[in-house]
Amino acid sequence: MKQIILTGDRPTGRLHVGHYVGSLKERVALQNSGKFDEIYIMIADAQALTDNAEHPERVRHNIRQVALDYLGCGLDPEKAVIFIQSTIPELPELTAYYMNLVTVARVQRNPTVKAEIQQKNFESHVPVGFFCYPISQAADITAFRATAVPVGEDQMPMLEQCREIVHKFNAVYGETLVVPEIVLASNKACLRLPGLDGKAKMSKSLGNCIYLSDDPESVQKKIMSMYTDPNHLKASDPGNLEGNTVFVYLDAFCQDAYFVEFLPEYANLDELKAHYQRGGLGDVKVKKFLNQVIQEELAPIRKRRKHWEEHWDDVVEILRQGCDKAHAKAAETLADVRRAMQINYFEND
Ligand code: TRP
Repeated sequence: MKQIILTGDRPTGRLHVGHYVGSLKERVALQNSGKFDEIYIMIADAQALTDNAEHPERVRHNIRQVALDYLGCGLDPEKAVIFIQSTIPELPELTAYYMNLVTVARVQRNPTVKAEIQQKNFESHVPVGFFCYPISQAADITAFRATAVPVGEDQMPMLEQCREIVHKFNAVYGETLVVPEIVLASNKACLRLPGLDGKAKMSKSLGNCIYLSDDPESVQKKIMSMYTDPNHLKASDPGNLEGNTVFVYLDAFCQDAYFVEFLPEYANLDELKAHYQRGGLGDVKVKKFLNQVIQEELAPIRKRRKHWEEHWDDVVEILRQGCDKAHAKAAETLADVRRAMQINYFEND
């Protein structure tokens, strides 16, 4: 069986370092592993519209930002098909068929949908389109016959629901769809990067993000103002690592080589942590080190992003070709689906 990746992001803002360590970095590694026959990376504008119907201009603007973030991170249009969700009419068609295989109660139980309804204060005003987005996400994944879906941990319930839909479809209409596997970042600290303020999640609405497109000065400013151990007042005090955002970020970003380069008096992160816990290591020193590490990670991304920003016409062409390729693939799957559902009325076979 062909090994195929499908994944994507809603264009609701620029992507941040939480997206990067949680999934983008993994996607680039998978892309470069040579283990995949086809790779589809989708800018999920239709999904972004499910709770931005009155602000299409925001979604339109952010398609550009996300495309630049993707290319900046090293997604390579020679290896990965980058495309825009709403240009593929097969996706809503597939969604319509899958809707008949899922109960309202099942979607209501989806933890991600539940959490988002709360977060967005929808209460009883949930748009139907928003409510159904786990079903359309199953359409996205299956239309490309994806075997692997590299996403952040928050998307786990979406993948479970997708797998259920695949099983149900195949049971009712015969083996047609491929069962996908989720691919999570292997480093635990990367799974859910907290915000700069120590809040559970880095999120645009909380204003606690470092964006991939931030300039070096703002990154430094943000890092120097990060939440640490509120009881670690003097450098000589013993410090606590529990819930200490600076150390969580180091867990996510740091490699031993960075110690050789920037902080040679320590061999690795364990030694730095031990010193902090013992007392005698100030927050400023740790933050300065974290800043060096993150700047080092972001510099090549920023450089590539700038290049593509200056060649925006080329990016448009990449997207146009990506949409064409993605469309052809989804159309093939749709033909199989119609055949399986016996709604291929005018196909002579
Ligand atoms: N739900 C994802 C997000 O919030 C975007 C998305 C839409 C997606 N369809 C997908 C991710 C299919 C993986 C697979 O960003």
